[in-house]
Amino acid sequence: MAHTMVIFGASGDLTSRKLIPALYRVHQRGRLPDQTRVVGVSRSQFTDEAWRKQLAESTARFLGQEFDSSTWGEFSQRIHYHPGDIQAEEDFLTLAGRLEELEGGRPADRVYYIATMPQLYESAAAQLGKAGLADDSSAARRIVIEKPFGTNLETARQLNQSIAKVFREDQVYRIDHYLGKETVQNILVLRFGNSIFEPLWNRSYIDHVQITVAEEVVVGRRGDYYDRSGVLRDMFQNHLFQLMMVTAMEGPVKFNADSVRDEKVKVLRAVRQFQGADFADCGIRGQYQGYCQEEGVAPNSPTETFAALRLHVDNWRWKGVPFYLRSGKGLSCRTTQIVIDFREPPHLLFGEGKKSMPQANRLVIQIQPAEGIQIHFQSKVPDQEMSLRQSQLDFRFASRGQSMPDSYERLLLDALQGDASLFARSDEVELAWEIMDPIIAAWRSPAAPPMHTYPVAGWGPEASTEWMQEQNRTWFDVCPVIH
Ligand code: BG6
Repeated sequence: MAHTMVIFGASGDLTSRKLIPALYRVHQRGRLPDQTRVVGVSRSQFTDEAWRKQLAESTARFLGQEFDSSTWGEFSQRIHYHPGDIQAEEDFLTLAGRLEELEGGRPADRVYYIATMPQLYESAAAQLGKAGLADDSSAARRIVIEKPFGTNLETARQLNQSIAKVFREDQVYRIDHYLGKETVQNILVLRFGNSIFEPLWNRSYIDHVQITVAEEVVVGRRGDYYDRSGVLRDMFQNHLFQLMMVTAMEGPVKFNADSVRDEKVKVLRAVRQFQGADFADCGIRGQYQGYCQEEGVAPNSPTETFAALRLHVDNWRWKGVPFYLRSGKGLSCRTTQIVIDFREPPHLLFGEGKKSMPQANRLVIQIQPAEGIQIHFQSKVPDQEMSLRQSQLDFRFASRGQSMPDSYERLLLDALQGDASLFARSDEVELAWEIMDPIIAAWRSPAAPPMHTYPVAGWGPEASTEWMQEQNRTWFDVCPVIH
């Protein structure tokens, strides 16, 4: 069966920066199914040739040495352009005709990728429905929705309902690009493809879990969007929650879309909702110094650019094991890591009372920039009495010199092939907002915990370090451990 990927929002940044380079890389790797074509739709008036030329330049710029003109030449023949307005019914009718023509009247599976401004998602789904483009009686019809998926529970629910009027849930693919990162998938393999980790993966052996998504960048030119969003909406409700779900979920019965997502959703259902004093005690808010002077940001903006939260997953596996989630802009470096902090050994056998006290083991799963895992364990200092020191075992996920695929490569291919395992389901998105909404509301109310400012290029507010110390724990403030 042939495939057609229709990208709405074709002249936008996401298309040139991520989608086309990813599809081209998949083609270069020889993994793009034969007879796959890409059709861009937006209001700009391009011909196929003009769009191809523009994409050749942007793709070469974004991919650098990975771009080569001969494979681009082949790939670009698969690309077409159709001018159209996402709010104009008649444009969808002409689009339907163009797609038929390109497909030569033969059935082809289609993926409609909605890469427009979020305000247009509902309209896009509705117009596709009206033009009969969602009818999957002769071939698959899928819709991919970019993030953000709503800005709170109410808007997410409304968006789900509007889409559901046209597409069944199994036709809907909600992107969270963190799920397309290789190491996130590797967590599943680490946990469920080995027998040595899973027996320890519970409250009996784990003291707490830290999930950090640190970004060195500041908001830059995205001030206008960011100031309305803040770190809780921009990073927690989606990416950090996805990382938490994958870390905390039970083993699915099978590796298919519904089994995996059923288990992920159970994690969110078990997250204890904040009540009363929790809103102040279970988190730290911060804003980097200079944020209010960024372009598009209100002069006295109350938006947090850093947050740390302590969540509890109340089930048999995790009861009593806090999950610390933290993310911020303007931090020391770009690193995403999940740190499993194990309990201390139950009995001190070596060097009691001396400096070399046994320390807890730690498993660091580094998601990016380089991807790998590091195990921290105690070993003896050679040629000394029973003095101990912390040692590390490193595993780098990619072989030296091998480049890892971008998350969009995997996700676009999965959407073309109809595998929704790495996409968010409607209940998952709504539950995530259900947890996040009350925290966002409390942090915008007069009873909000204090906003701590922090200097750029550190690990966030000092208060965050102190907060952990009060709980007898320390953040793993380390820039990428695997290079
Ligand atoms: C996006 C956020 O979803 O994720 C950005 O809107 C953030 O603010 C980005 O910078 C981080 O993604 P990555 O893949 O670079 O970690």
